[in-house]
Amino acid sequence: MPEQVSVVVCLQWGDSGKGRLVDYLAPQHDAGVRFNGANNAGHTVVTDNGDKTVLHILPSTSVDKKRAVLTPGVLVDPSVLQDDILCTGIDPSFVYIDKRCPVITQSDIDEDRSSSHNKEKIGTTGRGVGPAMRKQIERIEGLRAGDKYRDLLNDMGVQITDTVRLLHSVLDKGGRLLFEGAQGFGLDIWHGSYPYCTSSLCTTGAVCTNAGIPWNRISAVYGVFKAYSTRVGQGPFMEILDENIVSTIRRIGQEYGATTGRPRRVGWLDADLLKHALRVNGCTHLCMTKADVLCGLPYVVASIDHRVRKYEGWDSLDSPAFSKYINDIEEYLGMRIGFISAGPRRNDWFRLPDSRAMMAR
Ligand code: IMP
Ligand code: MG
Repeated sequence: MPEQVSVVVCLQWGDSGKGRLVDYLAPQHDAGVRFNGANNAGHTVVTDNGDKTVLHILPSTSVDKKRAVLTPGVLVDPSVLQDDILCTGIDPSFVYIDKRCPVITQSDIDEDRSSSHNKEKIGTTGRGVGPAMRKQIERIEGLRAGDKYRDLLNDMGVQITDTVRLLHSVLDKGGRLLFEGAQGFGLDIWHGSYPYCTSSLCTTGAVCTNAGIPWNRISAVYGVFKAYSTRVGQGPFMEILDENIVSTIRRIGQEYGATTGRPRRVGWLDADLLKHALRVNGCTHLCMTKADVLCGLPYVVASIDHRVRKYEGWDSLDSPAFSKYINDIEEYLGMRIGFISAGPRRNDWFRLPDSRAMMAR
């Protein structure tokens, strides 16, 4: 049975390279679906020829001009949607927006940016997501895509519809859907480090509650994490203390917010967070990204089983030191890491669970 519903979620604080895995999985699917968050997200896709596209609201599959769906639970800023449509070159009639998606207005953005609570204490992306979500919860009338913003969105050529019925009709015909999570487990409003988190749901469960897909239709859940950690904004974090290592990782890994340009805080891998995140998300596959960024460091540290472990550094992903790092993580998580990415380009994979592994190496 082909996998009909695949979900990609981040097990850390976002920016783990979900867009990259989605780009890899896209050819096996008929449509890409965003089911949470808003344009606080920044998903980077680098194609074979090195072209880099950063998407904020459309799913990363839009780079390949796949049909794009935004379900309830996604908040939409129409001007950012317009920018994403232009930069991908997708036909706007391929973009389906649920009539219930809340619309982010200029007053939401102004409020997010002028509040010192949001800006300094939480360190939000300033995209108006929290204030727009608050209005949704307060049940203010008329602020959804199908209400007074319908004409504006229709003029852009996108389709305003009931995406839950649409997705079910695709599944009924045997179609295959790829759900791309935004943000990550550590930023989830319930499971993340409140109040240093985002205003939405960031786990697999949101595919059920937001997109209306029942749990027993989900066939695969890909948990994505980086070989180290980063975080933008405030909140608890196992920060790296050695400034040289931080600046090397930031430079080689390009660790600057894809949405805000802020330098990301850089930390070591927290396998304890991963273990909890993968059981809550029900992951069937694990994907480690940016393993190459750690090449050449004098040492690498990880928190595994609540103990800080120090590893010998490695110069290449073929080295025994890297295998030791991977083996210890896999043993603790009780799961094989099926995908390891070794560079930003489409085909830069070190380990893949299928025959394409041979092609990529
Ligand atoms: P907000 O989502 O803009 O309200 O920001 C709340 C917190 O979530 C801040 O710490 C942001 O930096 C963080 N955040 C929101 N979206 C993302 C994302 O896509 N990647 C990484 N951090 C994010
Ligand atoms: Mg990002």
